[in-house]
Amino acid sequence: LILVIDYGSQYNQLITRRIRDLGVYSELHNPSITIEEIKELDPKGIILSGGPRSVYADDAFTVDPAVFDLGVPVLGICYGMQLMMQLNGGEVVASNEKESGATDIKVNTEADIFKGLATSETVLMSHSDKVTKLADGFEVIGETELCANAAVKHIEKPFYGLQFHPEAKHTVNGDTVLKNYIRDICNCTGEWTMENFIDIEVEKIRETVGGKQVLCAMSGGVDSSVTAVLLHRAIGDQLTCIFVDHGLLRKGEADMVMEQFGEGFNMNIIKIDAQERFLSKLAGVSDPEQKRKIIGNEFIYVFDDEASKLEGIDYLAQGTLYTDIIESGTETATTIKSHHNVGGLPEDMQFELIEPLNTLFKDEVRELGVELGIPEHLVWRQPFPGPGLGIRVLGEITPEKLEIVRESDWILRDEIRKAGLERDIWQYFTVLPNIRSVGVTGDYRTYDYTIGIRAVTSIDGMTSEFARIDWEVLEKISKRLVNESKHINRVVYDITSKPPATIEWE
Ligand code: XMP
Repeated sequence: LILVIDYGSQYNQLITRRIRDLGVYSELHNPSITIEEIKELDPKGIILSGGPRSVYADDAFTVDPAVFDLGVPVLGICYGMQLMMQLNGGEVVASNEKESGATDIKVNTEADIFKGLATSETVLMSHSDKVTKLADGFEVIGETELCANAAVKHIEKPFYGLQFHPEAKHTVNGDTVLKNYIRDICNCTGEWTMENFIDIEVEKIRETVGGKQVLCAMSGGVDSSVTAVLLHRAIGDQLTCIFVDHGLLRKGEADMVMEQFGEGFNMNIIKIDAQERFLSKLAGVSDPEQKRKIIGNEFIYVFDDEASKLEGIDYLAQGTLYTDIIESGTETATTIKSHHNVGGLPEDMQFELIEPLNTLFKDEVRELGVELGIPEHLVWRQPFPGPGLGIRVLGEITPEKLEIVRESDWILRDEIRKAGLERDIWQYFTVLPNIRSVGVTGDYRTYDYTIGIRAVTSIDGMTSEFARIDWEVLEKISKRLVNESKHINRVVYDITSKPPATIEWE
């Protein structure tokens, strides 16, 4: 394990990611981690990461200086380097000149961490403080025009500091620097794979669960499906999945989930047909927030009703990802932790929580899914929101409108697949904006619905660009939508990015 301590830079998740890509398991932890907790993790190397604060500020994050006595290599990056200098007798001050962006650096290629580099390299700099006095025992191994101490190394001990960001793509040979640190300095062999992740997690789950029963709320999405299959591998029939069909699913989705997981994987899945319940609660409601609340609450009631019919359930499994935890700002969690109220489930549900994916990134979850035998087309499905088609029929939801949006979504998905664009476009769907307009079919006037196509590229859904789909593909989709749906006479393409628009329309 390589332990990365998170001081808040936007690049910190990337550090963990790059190390995992080198075949070495790595976790990001909060700065509040104690020296005892660090010892318990028994890392083979520690990285003090970057962050936006100044090490000399009152609210600065720090680390127990005892990390330098563990006999474990320590690498400080940006803020981490400055912290390392300050804690060991060096000096850090605000600099008049901010150094930011791709920058030329001269490095000492004799230094083991720079093995394989040229004497002149391009690196990403992003700092406004600088080290003016080195900590005791350190020497300079890299400098830029504006930064005399751009890389440092302890003369005897395995301590290194980099003012630049080796994890960022702008640092052309950053992977080589990280590899030198991880492989040669920390002596990690690079054997971490999804296969042994499965073995380790299966063992952990068995140990935790023992002979008890586990419940999993399955949406059919990638995260909850992979969670369920992993648990099923570990504990078989001790797992029960509840799959709520709220009537707002895409065409064919409920059957696909039941077939794939119920029959294919032979898992215990209870499908709850709750369409009536949801649609009657939603009748006459057109405010988006109110619709979301109704769907969210109803989901909880249905789930709660069903869970209370089952006896002897002690654990609840959830597909929480690493990014979910980091984004929600909670302490970086251990694999299995105890909660009573997560993800909007009822507060009085007294379950212990199992979150076996909470150290993984989305693409790692997909890799894990494939390794577990889930077909690639399922693992690579686009994200689908919990409130489903309910937020894609704008305004009041009626069975007729739901049908229009469900059918048009089906056609769009089919054409995107045929055009081979499934993996290039992050998310694509249709929306029914509740607009009717005049058209002409044959010799007759029509007065019918407009359908909107939304297709975006994104990395994490936080920001997005509209997808630049070829006109020919869009034309084909448009023709099919109008021809195959009885109620569409106009098709529009949403060309806004996020921000200012959001991905979903409600
Ligand atoms: P927005 O519309 O906020 O969407 O730009 C960003 C991403 O989140 C999805 N989304 C949801 N996912 N429950 C979910 O599980 C929700 O209530 C929800 N709302 C939006 C959306 O599909 C997009 O991928």
